[in-house]
Amino acid sequence: METSPETPRVLIIHGPNLNMLGAREPEVYGRATLEEIDAALFESAKRLGLALETFQSNHEGAIVEKIQSAMEKCQGLIINPAAYTHTSVAVRDALLLLNVPIVEVHLSNIQRRESFRHTSLVADIATGRISGFGARGYTLALDGMAGLLQL
Ligand code: DQA
Repeated sequence: METSPETPRVLIIHGPNLNMLGAREPEVYGRATLEEIDAALFESAKRLGLALETFQSNHEGAIVEKIQSAMEKCQGLIINPAAYTHTSVAVRDALLLLNVPIVEVHLSNIQRRESFRHTSLVADIATGRISGFGARGYTLALDGMAGLLQL
């Protein structure tokens, strides 16, 4: 599908250490690399009629600035804040700037893991959350986002 200025834009943010997917604890996070995950997302976006941008950073401030930039430009945000899920008031505050649906994604089921991972500073401000489906969780999230945007 060709994108036009009216095509809804979705931003996907991958937090710290997710650039190491494939090599990083594959028994927890699976063997797919971030490049493979993003490629599948771009395929799904085409099918769903969404324009997509993906972004990964290991830096809290860079993630905050990317979220701020989405204020004007995006109709939906999907984020795996990774470790910042559990620690970052700054990421939470940036997300509160947005007036669009937010979907929180985790590859692993964070409720089944160490207790420090049970707290999410994003969960109560997200529209929806997908956790425990591995890499497929991202395409599930994109599909869910298309539903939220009534496509
Ligand atoms: C994660 C879970 C977090 O606890 C962890 O710090 C991550 C990845 C997940 O996708 O399962 O980096 O967000």
